[in-house]
Amino acid sequence: MDGNPTPKPIVPAAGRLGVLLPGLGAVATTFIAGVEAIRRGWGKPIGSLTQMGTIRLGKRTEGRTPLIREFVPLAHLDDLVFGAWDPIPDDAYRAAQVAGVLTNEHIEALADFLKQIRPMPAVFSREYVRKLDGPNVKKGKTKRELAEQLREDIRRFREGKGCRRLVMLWCGSTEVYLIPGPVHRTLDAFERGLDSNDPAIAPSMLYAYAAIQEGVPFANGAPNLTADIPALAELAKEKRVPIAGKDFKTGQTLMKTILAPGLKARMLGLTGWFSANILGNRDGEVLDDPESFKTKEESKLGVLERILQPDLYPDLYGDVYHKVRIHYYPPRGDNKEGWDNIDLFGWLGYPMQLKIDFLCRDSILAAPLVLDLALFLDLAQRAGMHGIQEWLSFYFKSPMTAPELYPEHDLFIQLTKLKNTLRWLMGEEPITHLGVEYYEGYGR
Ligand SMILES: NC(=O)c1ccc[n+]([C@@H]2O[C@H](COP(=O)([O-])OP(=O)(O)OC[C@H]3O[C@@H](n4cnc5c(N)ncnc54)[C@H](O)[C@@H]3O)[C@@H](O)[C@H]2O)c1
Repeated sequence: MDGNPTPKPIVPAAGRLGVLLPGLGAVATTFIAGVEAIRRGWGKPIGSLTQMGTIRLGKRTEGRTPLIREFVPLAHLDDLVFGAWDPIPDDAYRAAQVAGVLTNEHIEALADFLKQIRPMPAVFSREYVRKLDGPNVKKGKTKRELAEQLREDIRRFREGKGCRRLVMLWCGSTEVYLIPGPVHRTLDAFERGLDSNDPAIAPSMLYAYAAIQEGVPFANGAPNLTADIPALAELAKEKRVPIAGKDFKTGQTLMKTILAPGLKARMLGLTGWFSANILGNRDGEVLDDPESFKTKEESKLGVLERILQPDLYPDLYGDVYHKVRIHYYPPRGDNKEGWDNIDLFGWLGYPMQLKIDFLCRDSILAAPLVLDLALFLDLAQRAGMHGIQEWLSFYFKSPMTAPELYPEHDLFIQLTKLKNTLRWLMGEEPITHLGVEYYEGYGR
């Protein structure tokens, strides 16, 4: 099929799937509580493509449009079990209260379930997240020792909970900005860095390293480098483990990657895009530190440049002023407000403006992405796909790709890529939307 390799048979999704979460904060607790509420029939998995989405197969005249979860063999929600690490020792019940996303009514109704999820001691250092502290932290002389302790946690969890398979998703805070350096270049250099406590190895990298070593697929929901370094991509290939990242695409950046492709499709020009946010949750507090914000800013800024391709369209996008600001503003909690002011121009260069005011709920948007990623990473592993999973770009602000490729940010191209990957996995034809076969007399 189009020079693509033939997919491998997919191992069935039998038994329990453990979902391991470094970081038991707003996103993680909203995800865990949400899955349990959905299992009890108290709500619907709104925002989750794996649960709500359909996929068209074959020609439009065939009328084949199954639900994605009926088309590909995904783990069932009933088979998910949860584990977490956090430097703050609060169980998921208390952590959900602190996060302030879900109502007390929801949290109380799930109290017994949530109280059972207690975070394992974290690998944590304030060097990498300055605005945070907590006592539930592992001790070790070297980063190698700490990574080994995480590996033990993973094995203990797998056994203790009777899991057939595991996945790990980083839902921890945004770490300070790190530039890829020599220690990240090869696995060998990375492992030497573990022994010498190289400061360029952040805690999130130890989780990723431990996961991959244990054969556990890993995705990164924050903008930290984490697994997006050649050393860990090399390890993932060697261990045949899928990895993906980084930074969940929710809120303002989601809107940007919906709108920008539309403006570009119509060849409308841009002179500026100013994005401001007010956010009052712990994530907002962590991002108040300039070093953590820089990590986030890099992730948010890259999106427009890639979509607009100013090198190809200098008259339209050669001089766009793009600015992103996040302000910590406690009264709003998790209910972020994001404003966008877009200065655009049309025919003969006449200027126009577009304003967006998105009153969103950060973790309500992120939770379904955690679910989809957990299920798709597990699917990828059972389908023998390993290394970087670019088809999951749909979920990320800074998608990981093979080194020679630029990332695709347009949400609709990402969705097409994802669905075509599912079709390919199941031996169905990809859909190109060409459609000439419906009209007579075309072609020779
Ligand atoms: N819509 C969204 O909510 C969204 C979108 C994109 C990315 N993110 C990212 O997801 C992450 C989680 O967001 P959140 O709102 O849940 O934040 P949060 O502050 O509520 O939760 C993060 C948790 O991670 C813990 N943590 C920090 N360092 C850790 C470590 N080394 N090991 C284990 N735990 C650690 C913190 O103690 C905290 O409990 C953040 O990095 C955020 O930037 C969130």
